[in-house]
Amino acid sequence: MAGLLPISASLLGLAVSAAGLSFNVPTSPPSNSSGQISAAPVGVSDRATYDASSTEAVTYTVASPGDAPQTLTYGPSFISLAATYAGKVIIGLNRRLDDISNTISAALLVQSKMDNLYSIELGNEPNFFTSSDPIANGASWTAAADEASQVSWQDAVCGNLSASDIISAGVYFGTSPMSLVGLTATEGDANDYVKDYCSHNYPQSSGNYDLAKLMGHSAIASQIEPYAAEAAAAATKGKPHIFGETNSATQGGGGISPTFGAALWILDYVMQTVLMGTDALYFHQGTVGNCQYCWWGRYSMGSPYYGAYFATMALANADQIAPLDSQDSAYAAYAIYKSGAPVRALLYNSDYYTSGTRSSQTYTLSGLSSSSVTAKRLTAPYATSRVDQGSNPTVAGRTFTNGTCVIQGTETVETVTVSGGTATFAVAASEALLVYL
Ligand SMILES: *[C@@H]1O[C@H](CO)[C@@H](O)[C@H](O)[C@H]1NC(C)=O
Ligand SMILES: *[C@@H]1O[C@H](CO)[C@@H](O)[C@H](O)[C@H]1NC(C)=O
Ligand SMILES: *[C@@H]1O[C@H](CO)[C@@H](O)[C@H](O)[C@H]1NC(C)=O
Repeated sequence: MAGLLPISASLLGLAVSAAGLSFNVPTSPPSNSSGQISAAPVGVSDRATYDASSTEAVTYTVASPGDAPQTLTYGPSFISLAATYAGKVIIGLNRRLDDISNTISAALLVQSKMDNLYSIELGNEPNFFTSSDPIANGASWTAAADEASQVSWQDAVCGNLSASDIISAGVYFGTSPMSLVGLTATEGDANDYVKDYCSHNYPQSSGNYDLAKLMGHSAIASQIEPYAAEAAAAATKGKPHIFGETNSATQGGGGISPTFGAALWILDYVMQTVLMGTDALYFHQGTVGNCQYCWWGRYSMGSPYYGAYFATMALANADQIAPLDSQDSAYAAYAIYKSGAPVRALLYNSDYYTSGTRSSQTYTLSGLSSSSVTAKRLTAPYATSRVDQGSNPTVAGRTFTNGTCVIQGTETVETVTVSGGTATFAVAASEALLVYL
């Protein structure tokens, strides 16, 4: 907690706009509040076959180190390795190749070896399966075909495992033509086998990038809107909705993915999806040697990690979050609650800043009970800043050490006086502020 600064000192050089925003922080969670986030990842793809006799964790060949393998096999040691992960693990098993006994033998090993198992996926992004995949049996691969296949595989796998509450169902990329709304309607009794309903979401695609849109507060609201019905469908079935795979752009990311703007996207996207009713998000960490959106590499940190870290700071030990704004502008404000009382406020100015004079938004919060509050700032030189290009973001003035992820530097905590229950904060374009109430 060293380095306390008055807020004005950190605003030197900023142009503060005259118009400001005012939000009352409700003393208890308002009706549009929601719950909190959990968990962590690991997975295999739908190109993988289990080989009980293999002594290697995974076996594959690729033409160049950045390529994803078209086929691979994995042995028992892959599952032993996954079993050592300290967080919960979702393991993806193959359905596309239509070898159910192979998948069941892998599932039995997973069940017996992995105390950290959260759930098992039966197939990855089946909306991309085609009539020439073995599972399709020569017929066209429709939503109805996939739903029937998912349910029958859940029956067979869980019957052999004598297990319920274990399948991560759906695993659809996007919401059309296959959706959790459709799948949940056909699950029937097999819903007992389901642990969670799973979506994959990538707002942008390789070669078609728009960073301002990615990080834009109202653009994020529009982008996730189709998933609201998916989360609601899962809730109707009494199961959590998760994003089992998500990140900024498909295929390992690129262009926009290593930037600070992508960090700001993570921050606001996490808040908005949690509010929508999503239980957990698993950020895809790409292919070995080709991972523009990765949070860290072997030698260098990535800018997106700063957004993930700040989102965790905002949500840690909290029960609920509430949107104070209506999600139709560039300026976000959230109240964060613990045991029914506001503990933090998160302010995010999603105006896109890449050069010249940096504009700023003024937020006035009312309904505050203490005489002063502190704040920590997430910032970077530009929305386009990349760690690997020497433009490091900071969290309360600190950076993460390349190679180890250890936070370093002197922490800068801003102090703001509250008068009459009201305090004013400036948040520059492409910046966020976490206020400790
Ligand atoms: C076990 O899986 C097979 C498919 O390999 C299936 O035919 C059988 O019904 C399953 N057993 C149980 C008890 O569900
Ligand atoms: C949430 O409710 C608050 C009132 O407490 C309202 O001002 C705000 O616009 C709402 N936001 C959304 C996204 O529903
Ligand atoms: C991390 O390494 C990159 C080079 O890949 C460098 O540009 C950046 O400044 C380093 N960041 C820190 C915090 O030392």
